[in-house]
Formats: sequence, structure tokens, C-alpha cells
Amino acid sequence: MPNQAPLSLWLLIGLTSWLVSGHPQCLDYKPPFQPSKPLTFCSAYSSFGCCDSAQDAAIASRFRYLSEFLDHTGVNVCGRYIQDILCQECSPYAAHLYDAEDANTPLRELPGLCGNYCIEFWYRCRSMLGLILEDKDVSEMEGDISKFCRFLTLDDGNYCYPNVLTNAELNNGLGDMREDEEGCLQLCLQEVANGLRNPVAMVHANDGTHRFFIAEQVGFIWLYLPNGSRVDKPFLNVSKAVLTSPWAGDERGFLGVAMHPDFRNNGKFYVYYSIYAKREEKIRISEFHLSTDNVNMADHKSERVIMEITEPASNHNGGQILFGTDGYLYIFTGDGGRAGDPFGEFGNAQNKSSLLGKVLRINVTGNEQGPPYRIPPDNPFLRERGVRPEVYAYGVRNMWRCSVDRGDAVTGKGRGRVFCGDVGQNKFEEVDLIHKGGNYGWRAKEGFSCYDKKLCNNATLDDILPIFAYPHTVGRSVTGGYIYRGCQMPNLNGRYIFGDFMSGRLMSLKEDKEGKQWTYTEICMGQAKTCIYTTEIILVSKTTFFAAINPRRATGVFLFLFLFYYQGELYFLATGTPSAAAAAGAMYKIVDPSKRAPPGKCPVSPRPVPVKGKLVDFYPRQKLILKAESITTEPPPSPRPDQGQFNTTVKPHFTTKTPTFQRATSAPAYQTVSQLPKPTTSRKDLLQITTVKITTTWRKNETITATHRKPTLSWQDELMNLFTTRRRPYTTEAPHLITTMKSPRRTEFVSRKNEGKKSHGARRSKKKIVRKEKVKTLKRIKHGTVRLVNEENRLDRGRIEIHINGEWGTICNDRFDSQAGSVVCQQLGYPYVLQVARKAEFGEGKGLRILLDEVRCEGWEKTLLDCRRSKIGEHDCTHEEDVGVVCGMEEIYDEEEASLT
Ligand SMILES: *[C@@H]1O[C@H](CO)[C@@H](O)[C@H](O)[C@H]1NC(C)=O
Ligand SMILES: *[C@@H]1O[C@H](CO)[C@@H](O)[C@H](O)[C@H]1NC(C)=O
Ligand SMILES: *[C@@H]1O[C@H](CO)[C@@H](O)[C@H](O)[C@H]1NC(C)=O
Ligand SMILES: *[C@@H]1O[C@H](CO)[C@@H](O)[C@H](O)[C@H]1NC(C)=O
Ligand SMILES: *[C@@H]1O[C@H](CO)[C@@H](O)[C@H](O)[C@H]1NC(C)=O
Ligand SMILES: *[C@@H]1O[C@H](CO)[C@@H](O)[C@H](O)[C@H]1NC(C)=O
Ligand SMILES: *[C@@H]1O[C@H](CO)[C@@H](O)[C@H](O)[C@H]1NC(C)=O
Repeated sequence: MPNQAPLSLWLLIGLTSWLVSGHPQCLDYKPPFQPSKPLTFCSAYSSFGCCDSAQDAAIASRFRYLSEFLDHTGVNVCGRYIQDILCQECSPYAAHLYDAEDANTPLRELPGLCGNYCIEFWYRCRSMLGLILEDKDVSEMEGDISKFCRFLTLDDGNYCYPNVLTNAELNNGLGDMREDEEGCLQLCLQEVANGLRNPVAMVHANDGTHRFFIAEQVGFIWLYLPNGSRVDKPFLNVSKAVLTSPWAGDERGFLGVAMHPDFRNNGKFYVYYSIYAKREEKIRISEFHLSTDNVNMADHKSERVIMEITEPASNHNGGQILFGTDGYLYIFTGDGGRAGDPFGEFGNAQNKSSLLGKVLRINVTGNEQGPPYRIPPDNPFLRERGVRPEVYAYGVRNMWRCSVDRGDAVTGKGRGRVFCGDVGQNKFEEVDLIHKGGNYGWRAKEGFSCYDKKLCNNATLDDILPIFAYPHTVGRSVTGGYIYRGCQMPNLNGRYIFGDFMSGRLMSLKEDKEGKQWTYTEICMGQAKTCIYTTEIILVSKTTFFAAINPRRATGVFLFLFLFYYQGELYFLATGTPSAAAAAGAMYKIVDPSKRAPPGKCPVSPRPVPVKGKLVDFYPRQKLILKAESITTEPPPSPRPDQGQFNTTVKPHFTTKTPTFQRATSAPAYQTVSQLPKPTTSRKDLLQITTVKITTTWRKNETITATHRKPTLSWQDELMNLFTTRRRPYTTEAPHLITTMKSPRRTEFVSRKNEGKKSHGARRSKKKIVRKEKVKTLKRIKHGTVRLVNEENRLDRGRIEIHINGEWGTICNDRFDSQAGSVVCQQLGYPYVLQVARKAEFGEGKGLRILLDEVRCEGWEKTLLDCRRSKIGEHDCTHEEDVGVVCGMEEIYDEEEASLT
């Protein structure tokens, strides 16, 4: 594809407002959701929040681990507070409470608290600080309530824990779609493809491969793989035959494509384009099929012309083709052009002997022998003399984009309905619901009003009114859309989303229960702050969107826009320069920032396709600008180098690796929040640190309960990584804890060098604080307590260390089995042991004594000490045989992850 003017979306963020105002968001930067099952531990977030049951169980397990360090009184005094604090990860406002909204400050380790609560917390739980706060100068805070609360209290007294739960403003309509003051719905956009020349259509083949096909007006179809990479050779190239021109607004060209419903088996698809033949302009509908030796390319020699229709003028060429749920091909033609449908006695649209200004319906299935298409036996006008049998509906001006309703996912209601946007003449744009035999009024009517008074007043008109029409003050060329029936954005369900080509407005209609009334709501690409979930999802405000997509017309309203559908999710195509020669078009996905589907509800598992030849990777053009007062044309220093549009030499942007959300260098604990220094790396940079894959290996054939899991890390895993990396690593020194309600006490500290722990790319070089107790220890660690030690600070796996008679030690045992492993996992709160690791796969516990050997368990024992075993301290093995486990909340195990090591 040729070079083109850069198209970048500048995201403008007012940082100041960002800090004070809030919106629901999870720590993975995504919207909260309604968990599929109620949560048992963090039950306050059962109906809406950021945790599903797996995470809930992990938090419960962490709580149990912490409780081990509390005696009975301690649990009574502090337990509830610890539970509340741990559960804030599940709060729908987790991102705010942990400062994850602000890219300029490090993530907090503990959620931001309200003043009073902080004081209570300190009095009751300060002795636990060493355990729950990582790398903080805990002594200072443990001894000084004001330091502690300066560190933890949030400035906004309504927007801190626990007041955030009761604040009416924050909880009113939580999870509902957000509206601005004018009632405009706030949605986010995600860039999916770019560098397109007047992208006029996007379809998928419904063949399980999740490939998508984008058509350009010049006569190309490009094929994209589900990860956004484009096959470098066009899927179809009919550019030589297609009639179009580079002038902006030329309506001729390659206009539509539809995949046969049985594409998977017959490889057939249909295209709609303009040609010039025998000194006439025509539209042509053709059939092609797939190449026999490349599933990513059409057989260019297979073209079979289905139909050609002469166009008396160069505008109003229609262009939509689609398959209805009845299996027939629907073709939407324009009225033939010029203004006011001037052809013949009363125009083409009302003349059923003409194929122009119509919805046509034909059968192209089983056409291998005989004519290229057949007339469906129930087409409405078969018995009328002189009428074309293909006609299904009439009175159409120039329907630009029609769609088939997939129907409600549960009830199927609405399935098969066809919606169209019909572009108006001088005054009104309309949205129609197509009925068999229906007359849509043109040129007698435009929208609800009369256009040709004589025809309009003729009693025989009997037309079907639009479901919605809008005047030219709102927009001047409707682009029909889709009823959202996808899975990922529950709030959008049932909403018809469409737009206007000229004004660039996005709009929506919602039907009432009876399907009679449609309520209009505008859609805004509103507040930037609500849309930064990942670097890939960026919302743009309306003005910035226009400015971005068309930089030369910063105040412009010119937006080329189409809406399409892929896997039930909603996408649209747009360009800032509506010329078939300018590669200024892009595709966006519509994302609702208020609520997402619960994890696991919308699984995506594309069927792989063999790829011949090269792929061109996708790089989003949109950029993040931190702090900008106004629209700027100067690119700011961007975190990622501005790569060429189809630069194949650089690493792909779409990555299967999981970003880690790590803490930046943390601030000294006793500074107030506002004094916190800027981290050396911004979160944007941190987002690009990819996870180092698990380095521990274990033998697959020893997996006991393991089965397969999704090949890539799910968002839960991401979140778990986030927390495990942010959490305090299990120290090799047992913390001795007390619970006390007394006033601050003095404690002495010695610093010791961290034993060179590395984690996930970001170096930690912090001093580990080891407390030397000077105070009475109320509780010692229980006999038989276990912990898992590993390099990545993951909670669910590691070398098993056991605490016996006041010391920690290891277990060396070459026959340690799954029953013994399950005792350990259950003790730690995990229902399953996924893997037993022998031979020091999680490292040798050097420096510790080997305390157990020959452990044989039944699986029901409370601790390993209850199993058959050697005497404590007696063993005939070395640290080289130290054992470990991988525990799990589910009976599944990521084999892929293990094999990547
Ligand atoms: C498309 O086909 C034309 C000839 O039909 C050819 O000249 C052109 O190079 C092709 N373009 C691409 C990108 O394959
Ligand atoms: C279309 O015609 C073919 C061949 O006559 C027939 O087998 C098929 O059922 C028809 N399709 C539909 C959707 O009726
Ligand atoms: C209707 O269209 C047909 C085909 O284009 C044309 O021959 C005929 O004259 C038209 N009829 C009227 C009344 O305009
Ligand atoms: C009304 O329309 C019908 C058919 O479209 C036509 O035959 C008739 O003459 C029209 N009547 C008037 C009064 O224009
Ligand atoms: C592609 O990216 C590489 C690495 O960043 C760079 O060296 C090269 O110049 C780029 N090529 C183009 C065409 O932008
Ligand atoms: C996209 O998927 C294809 C096929 O699976 C693969 O070859 C390609 O490397 C992937 N591209 C990126 C950027 O991950
Ligand atoms: C596991 O597999 C390896 C090689 O794949 C084999 O040498 C070893 O004996 C197997 N272990 C068990 C316990 O089956």
C-alpha cells in the first residue's frame, strides 16, 4: 500500500482532573464485571467488581496465610481489617484505590484509606504491617500513626476505602453505561487496523478462523489474521476492473462483499463493484471462490458475473450485499443517481420494473449448473405483471450499509431482521427495518416528510415509515449500523449503533419491549481518563478524534464512517480523507468502559490457518499524550518509536506475552502521598515490560491432575502476576508478630542484604528489613506451617519449606508424590496440586536444615507432620532433592507455559 499522511490519535489527558475524579476500573485497566458465581470471601463484590471466584479464593488463601501469624485475639482484633484490605482488589474502584489510574505515581501496595479507618486500622493491625507491606520502612510507620496515615490516606474523603462503598454518587448506576452531562453515552475505541484507502467493508467468513476481510474502494480485499497481522498479498485484487477515481466523494468503486454462509465448505463469496463497459457505467455483482492452493487468496480466474445493472449517473450506486438468515443473497441498489430520482415517470425507486432503488433477493446456492441465480419462490411480486421478480422491497434512495440482526443471545428474539440506513436528499436521513414487499417511500417521501407532494398524497403509496429519521443539522449521510449482540460488552446488548458519514457522529437506538418504539441516544467518544486500560485501548474525545483522524481540519466534521461486525463485537471503519487514493483509513472496535463480561464468558479460540508468504504486523497509530492543554500537532516523545505503517522488521505489537504491572521504585514510606517522587519509569513503560516466562521446569509426565488450559495467559493470570509481583516475597526469616493495642513501641531493626532476588525485569535492590524482636512474642509460628519459596514471588508454587520447632527447613525426598503435595497445597488454601517438583526444581534451600524425608501421605492429613515420615531432621538425601509443588484453584494446568521454559 502506498505511503500516506500519518494518522494518529492524540489522547489528551488532563492529569489534574484525573487524580481527583474517579471511575470504575480494575487493576488490569479494564472495566469491572459481574462475576459468574457469587464470591464467598470478598462477598461485598459478588454482584459487581473486579474478581471472579478464582481470584476470590486466592485472596482467601492469602488471608489464611496471614492469619497463621495471628493468635486468636489477633484474629478477632485485626482479622476483619485484613480481610477488608485484601478484598479491595475486587472493588470496582480498585484502580483508583491503588493509584493505578495515574500513570505518574507507582501503584500502592495497600488501597487508599479514609482517615478514620486508617487510624482504626493502625491501632488494630499495625503489627501486621511487616507482613502486608513490602519494602517499606515499616518501623517508621509501625511506630508513628501520623506517618502511617499520611502514607495511606487519600485526599478525597468520599473516594477512599470504605467511604467509596457508600458514596451515593459513585455507586449510583455503577456498571451502567456512562453518560455525560448532555446524556451522551461514553464509549472507548480500540484501533484494530490502519493505513486503509477508503475502507468500505469488513466481513468475516464465519468459518472458525476469525480472519477478517477489509475491502478498499479501489478494488482490494485484504485479509487479516485474528492477531491483527495482515497477509501481504491481497485476498482479492480487482482494481483493474473497478471503476473509481481519486476524487473525494466518488461513490463508485468496489463497494461490497459477502461471504457465502457455507464459505467454510464451498469457499464462495460475492462482490459488488462499479465497472465501465460498452460506454456505460454499471454495477456488477460477481461470485468468486477460494484458490485451491492458498486459503488466504481468492482464485482470480473464478469470477462469475451474477448480475449487472446499468447506472444512469455516477452517484447512488448502493453497494450493500449480504446473506439473510434465510440463506438468500440480498442486494441493495441505489436509485440511479442525480438528485430527486428523476428517471422515468415517477423515478426508479417506485418503479418495480427497474432494479434500481431496490432491495433485491436472489438464490445463489446450488448455481453450479444452469443460471447464476434463481428467484426465491416466495419473493413478493412474482405475480405482478412487468415487475422484476428479484425485487424484495422498493422505494429506496441509496441504502448505505445494512445488517442482519443475530438476535438475542438467549431468546433469539429479533433474529433475521434487516436494518438499513437510507441516505436522504435535502432534509432527512433515515433508518429502516426491511420487510418483504415493503415500500420505503422514496421519492414520494424523505424520512417522515413528503418530498414529491403528488406521489406522497397518492393513497396507493402505502409506505413503511422509518424507525428513526434525523435532520441535516445532525448529519447529512447516514451510515447504517448493527444491533449489538456481542458478548464482551453486556451494556450494549440490543442497541442499534450507527453513524453519519458527514458529521462523524456515532448514534444509537434502543427498542422498547414490544419493538415498536426506538429511543435515540448519541454516543460520545468522551472522557479520555476512562479509557486507558492498556496501551491498545484508547478513547478519544469527539474533538480530538476528528482532529486526529483529520489533522489538517482540526475543527473538522468530515468523517468517513462505516460500522461493521465481527464475532458479534462492533467495529467501524473511518477515514479523515475520503479519497480512494489516500491511505488514511482505520478500523476501530467499540469498547464500553463501564462493564465487561465476566472472565471466561467470551472464549475466543480461532481455528489456525496455514499462511503462505509474508505477514504485515499491525502497529496502532494512536498515541498517548500525557498532559496536553490543547490539540497538538507536534508528536510528543512517544514511549514507542513511531514505526512505519507496515514495518515488518520490528517486533510485532500484538504480543501473546503478558505485560507485568510492576511497581516502580517505591518512595520512602514516611513521605506524604503528594511528596511521592516521580518514578523513574512511567507506567506506560512498565506496561511494555513483558513477563519473563516461568523459568522453573518440571517434568510433564509427572503431572498428576493436570489437563490443558488456554494457551495464553488470561487476564486473571495477568492480575495474579500483578499481585504476586507486588507482594512481599516470603522472607527466609520468620516474622514474629504480636498483636497489641498499646501505644507505639520501639523496635530495633537490622538491615540485611537481599539475597539477589530478581524479578520480572525490574530490579529490586531494596534492603530487607529483618525485625529483631524486643517485645514479647504472643505467638510463634505453628508447628508444621509450610510456605512456598520461588524466584518469582508467586504464591501458588515453589520449594516447600516447613516450620518445625522454631525453625524453617526443607524436605528432600525423591519419592514425594501428589498426595503429599496436596496436603501442602490444601494447607495453603489451594484445592488442587497441579505438579510435584522434585530434585530442587525450585532451587535448593541452602542455609536451611533438611527437616523431613520419606514423607508418605494419604492426602487428608492437616500437615506433613501427620503423614508417615522420617524423624525430624533425619534424612538420607541432600538439598539437591528438595521438593516443591505447584498448587491451583482449578484442576487445570498450563502445559504451554511449562513447555516454554
Ligand atoms: C493488482 O492487480 C493489478 C493487475 O490486475 C496489478 O497491476 C497490481 O500490481 C496488483 N496489485 C497488487 C497489490 O497485487
Ligand atoms: C437455492 O436453490 C438451490 C438449488 O435449486 C436449492 O437447493 C436451495 O435450497 C435454494 N436455497 C434456498 C435458501 O432456498
Ligand atoms: C420503469 O422502469 C423500466 C425499466 O427501467 C422502464 O422501461 C419503464 O419505462 C419505467 N416505467 C416508468 C413508468 O417510468
Ligand atoms: C397513484 O399511483 C398509482 C400507481 O403508482 C397510479 O396509477 C395513479 O395514477 C396515481 N394516482 C394519482 C392521483 O396520481
Ligand atoms: C522499521 O523498524 C526498524 C527497527 O525499529 C527500523 O530500523 C527501520 O528503519 C524501520 N523501517 C521503516 C520502513 O520504517
Ligand atoms: C499472527 O498470527 C500468525 C499466524 O498464527 C503468526 O504467524 C504471526 O507471527 C502472528 N503475528 C503476531 C504479530 O503475533
Ligand atoms: C518422564 O519422561 C522422561 C522423558 O520424557 C522419562 O525419561 C522419565 O522416565 C519419565 N518419568 C516418569 C516418572 O514417567
